Amino acid sequence: MSANVFAAPVSLQTARLLLRRNTPDDAKPMFETWAQDPEVTRFMTWAPHRSVEETHGYLEYCTTVWRARTAFPWGIVERETGALVGGIEARVDGHRVEFGYVLARRVWGRGYATEASRAVVALALSAPAIQRVWAYVDCEHTASVRVLEKAGLVREGCLRKWYVPSGFGVPRDIWSYAIVKEPS
Ligand SMILES: CC(C)(COP(=O)(O)OP(=O)(O)OC[C@H]1O[C@@H](n2cnc3c(N)ncnc32)[C@H](O)[C@@H]1OP(=O)(O)O)[C@@H](O)C(=O)NCCC(=O)NCCS
Repeated sequence: MSANVFAAPVSLQTARLLLRRNTPDDAKPMFETWAQDPEVTRFMTWAPHRSVEETHGYLEYCTTVWRARTAFPWGIVERETGALVGGIEARVDGHRVEFGYVLARRVWGRGYATEASRAVVALALSAPAIQRVWAYVDCEHTASVRVLEKAGLVREGCLRKWYVPSGFGVPRDIWSYAIVKEPS
């Protein structure tokens, strides 16, 4: 992946959320509130974490990619409570930014994924070198499809047998969703 075309800030604020770079202290809440929850990881390529050490390993990955500026994982903090409730990550590849998100089950349905996604999409599109912001989603993951649509992305097509989510263990179809910068 290429770096340095997208100068991501270490934190971003929305009406109800703070997106901020993770710290090692996040491992415990991250593990306890979502990383070990099979309902949360059902459509993810990674399996539920079995120990907090595994979550520490993910945080080391976060440090590495932030340093390399190839990807920008932010923790999602609920501003009202200060609680870490999820994560969202933007991955840079040339003129493209791909993103993905995860939230603890107890905060689903509050519009947080949409709010965080809109912020990351706007940030990515504000970078002159970025022309395309995209995400993929399991064709049957209705909640995440809605998030992408509400964040302004448009369905492009189906990629059949594209990924293997941990909750299924077999290749499944995905929708590719994107928003592209119109020529000026
Ligand atoms: C997918 C996920 C991020 C959605 O987060 P969220 O904050 O609850 O999403 P929002 O509240 O912003 O929007 C959810 C939308 O999906 C809809 N929705 C939720 N559950 C649904 C379901 N079972 N069927 C249909 N629609 C559903 C909501 O009604 C809402 O749409 P609306 O505003 O048009 O009513 C969250 O469920 C999650 O973290 N899941 C586990 C990780 C994951 O799968 N990540 C995405 C991988 S692509």
